[in-house]
Amino acid sequence: MIKQEKYEELLPQMIAMIEGETNPVSVMANVAAALHEAFGWWWTGFYTVSGDQLELGPFQGPVACYRIKRGRGVCGTAWDRNETVIVPDVEQFPGHIACSSLSRSEIVVPMHDNEGNVVAVLDIDSKDLSTFDETDQQYLEEIVKAISKEVKWK
Ligand code: SME
Repeated sequence: MIKQEKYEELLPQMIAMIEGETNPVSVMANVAAALHEAFGWWWTGFYTVSGDQLELGPFQGPVACYRIKRGRGVCGTAWDRNETVIVPDVEQFPGHIACSSLSRSEIVVPMHDNEGNVVAVLDIDSKDLSTFDETDQQYLEEIVKAISKEVKWK
């Protein structure tokens, strides 16, 4: 199945799963689990904004760093720029934070509260180069929007 078909099949299931639950940690945990299982990525999870740094949130995969400063690494950059960042080869990204030496490519998607502030990022790592493209960006942005719409951040 091509990637787009997989997302098309998964998206309504994800939205149904997200709807009706307002606890952000619970929803992020299930979204990380569902995405990780469907695509078999190396690491799938969330970092949440706390002051001037990101803190490790719900994830699937190997253990990861607890805190990332704003503007640092791929995650801190996506937060700072307030846009999705796709990295085809992490070794070519200045300041990439290697939580796992096996990660080769990465995508990070910012998530917003209903006032438009970045409250978390969805971070996905792959053991292969160039895993992520605009198709991933499009669907992952839809998924984080569905989360933002449903949960209560405070
Ligand atoms: N590589 C990320 C750090 C988080 S781990 O990938 C889970 C970064 O550079 O921000």
